[in-house]
Amino acid sequence: MAKKFTFPENFVWGAATASYQIEGSWEKHGKGESIWDRFSHTPGKVDNGDTGDIANDHYRLWKKDIRLMKQIGLQAYRFSIAWPRILPKGRGKINQKGLDFYSKLVDGLLAANIKPFVTLYHWDLPQTLEDEGGWPERATAEAFVEYTDVISRALGDRVKDWITLNEPACSAWLGYDSGEHAPGVRDLPRAIRASHHLLLAHGWSVPVLRRNSQNAEVGITLNSNWLVAASNSAMDLDALRQGEGKWVRWFSDPVYGRGYPSDIVADFEKQNVLPNGFDFVQEGDLQAIATPMDFLGVNYYNRGLVRVNHPNNEPQRLFLSAKTPENWTEMDWENYPDGLLSVLARYYFDYQPLKIYVTENGASYSTPPNGNGSVPDEHRIQYLRTHIAAVHRAIEAGVPMAGYFAWSLMDNFEWAKGYAQRFGIVWVDYKTQERIPKDSAKWYKGVIKKNGF
Ligand code: FCB
Repeated sequence: MAKKFTFPENFVWGAATASYQIEGSWEKHGKGESIWDRFSHTPGKVDNGDTGDIANDHYRLWKKDIRLMKQIGLQAYRFSIAWPRILPKGRGKINQKGLDFYSKLVDGLLAANIKPFVTLYHWDLPQTLEDEGGWPERATAEAFVEYTDVISRALGDRVKDWITLNEPACSAWLGYDSGEHAPGVRDLPRAIRASHHLLLAHGWSVPVLRRNSQNAEVGITLNSNWLVAASNSAMDLDALRQGEGKWVRWFSDPVYGRGYPSDIVADFEKQNVLPNGFDFVQEGDLQAIATPMDFLGVNYYNRGLVRVNHPNNEPQRLFLSAKTPENWTEMDWENYPDGLLSVLARYYFDYQPLKIYVTENGASYSTPPNGNGSVPDEHRIQYLRTHIAAVHRAIEAGVPMAGYFAWSLMDNFEWAKGYAQRFGIVWVDYKTQERIPKDSAKWYKGVIKKNGF
């Protein structure tokens, strides 16, 4: 390989997971039901009828998983807290056993010299709050602040890196508009209200985190695939504006103090979906949402092509590149590393975040263990290598990149796709709960050690 990629000295190398995708023990030790418990228990919602009831059994095997992280040499681990483990009904009574679990996990990580990056909300809303209306209701944002206060009082002395929300666009649009994700609602007006209350929950919780966690750094994680128009026709370009506006700018603009993008507001008004307009946006809300953060988290997976006349102008996966495993992962997501550079550059040049972490990036390939006990997942190595190279190019272009988290530490419950999609750098045998580091984990270990490749 010709070029050498060396990263800045304090660049952080990590891997990420999320509570519902790995923990299991969904009703143990006082945990309340979440919308993902309810959704996955509803026939027809998740492929193959898979649920997170057991998942990777991480709730019981967390010590083993920390050993795994240590073995790979991870410097940081991004995980999320299951809100209903802490407040089973979303607010009010605290479940001490839930707090103890995360407290021990954090101690274990610190003892292993691994920095905990905590996401407060990675999609598992307490079902009780959903029963009261969920994110379309302002009261859910208020409950989130209570939850943030409880968890950051408990962990704030040791956790110094906080992510409020993971991909609020997915919570709003997949949860309440398309219904592909929990709670499975199909109602655009409610989804728009949900988006506002998610952002409000974010903004309101930033000062709470700062109060309870001295010298902490706080950010939000946004999903940002690289969207391009299928052609230069005015209509395709307008479809791109809409798709990108709804999925990206609708969240990034208000967080960076610009309010909701006026073109998308006009689109919603034209569609007449909000009979009472934006009456749920109250005085002071936009200031709260724009509370300054320390970093931006970016999740990047693929490129999406936008073409007019497709339902909702959602990005489509037109096959621009040959359909080989090198170019297409098993999610049917394109392997398009240049898109990561474009996304990072756009965020930086648009909003000047103080620093950016890639909080998720990875590929689904189901390569199984071979007879010799190794997992030869060369396509994943190729994906990771080319994307990490793109991060390096972003640094060269002046983007203040602070770290990279591979998605995922291990194979896990891939939401509506269940267990068939495997994103891990570690193989999980769901019958025995055996974990086997894949070749990509071995490769990543070398990257961390050399701070590059
Ligand atoms: C992201 C989610 C993450 C994982 C990846 C593949 O949208 O944040 O939990 O499922 O997709």
